[in-house]
Amino acid sequence: MKKWLIEELICPQCLDSDIVLNFDIYTETDGDIIEGRLVCPQCKQEYEIHEGIAVVVPEQTLPMIQDATGYNSFSMLSSYLWSHYSEFFNGPDATDAYQKWARAFGSQRSGWALDIGCSVGRLTFEMTRTHDRAVGLDTSISFVRAARELAAKKQLAFDLIMEGQITEKRACDLDPAFGFDQAEFIVADAMALPFRSRRFATVSSVNILEKVPDPLLHLAEANRVMDETDAKILFSDPFSWDENVNNPDRWLGGTNEGSFKGFGMDNICRLLQDSKSVFSPGFRIQDKGQVLWKIRKTRNLWEHITSQFVVAERTAMG
Ligand SMILES: C[S@@+](CC[C@H](N)C(=O)[O-])C[C@H]1O[C@@H](n2cnc3c(N)ncnc32)[C@H](O)[C@@H]1O
Repeated sequence: MKKWLIEELICPQCLDSDIVLNFDIYTETDGDIIEGRLVCPQCKQEYEIHEGIAVVVPEQTLPMIQDATGYNSFSMLSSYLWSHYSEFFNGPDATDAYQKWARAFGSQRSGWALDIGCSVGRLTFEMTRTHDRAVGLDTSISFVRAARELAAKKQLAFDLIMEGQITEKRACDLDPAFGFDQAEFIVADAMALPFRSRRFATVSSVNILEKVPDPLLHLAEANRVMDETDAKILFSDPFSWDENVNNPDRWLGGTNEGSFKGFGMDNICRLLQDSKSVFSPGFRIQDKGQVLWKIRKTRNLWEHITSQFVVAERTAMG
């Protein structure tokens, strides 16, 4: 983990008190901590940095990150590397979804950006074009490892699944305009963000809301780490609620009754604009629409997804 991130990290188990973590560095290379540990001075919880990857999650999240299936699997890595970077190796049928989401970041802004549920990092790299620094976080160690490797090598090389265990090599340079040294990736939980409150000028939550056990808590955490007077949020989701992922009582849409009845996007826009909601102070909506996004599983299997997005901003002018 790059050293510049250390002083921004707080204990994800003591969020109410913004407790900055102490640290021990065992080995480092060029400002990158390879082995070390972060320790909470209040609850004494230790967070490991191993092979350059900081894991800063509350204890209850550990089983999820240790699960070798799902987002930690080899097939997911192939799928998401294709989805994020196929434009760069001229993959046939490449998706331009990330370019479209990146338009939300607009012209030059100062400050830091946070990409929540960053996967293999494309949007985080896009954020470095318009921010001083960009941090991506994800609960998948495999994705965070891949994103860190991309930042270090500025190149992509991976095994793309053709069918079953048959793979083909794909390799390419990434856009040299990405601020590779300005990007960092850690393992963290969208529902317990290990960052100081109000630290970020921009936050993205793209295709993750429906994946977390408590979507409203994820939004409340996003709000906590955003600047109170000058902040931008890019939110996008397909709203494909699934009761195997989270309890329908916690869905923020897709139901016929309760405080979040109706469509998810309508409810998200309502929350963003209501300063008495989890988004306080409220936001002004700048843009809304949909992005056609693709995930490639094998050479014959694709998921075509419509992700509905909203870009919203809060400024000192209200
Ligand atoms: C559908 S993928 C979207 C990834 C990326 N934002 C994109 O659009 O390509 C959902 C991502 O959220 C991550 N994720 C799931 N639960 C999470 C949590 N509680 N905290 C952080 N990341 C999580 C997954 O590992 C995965 O990378």
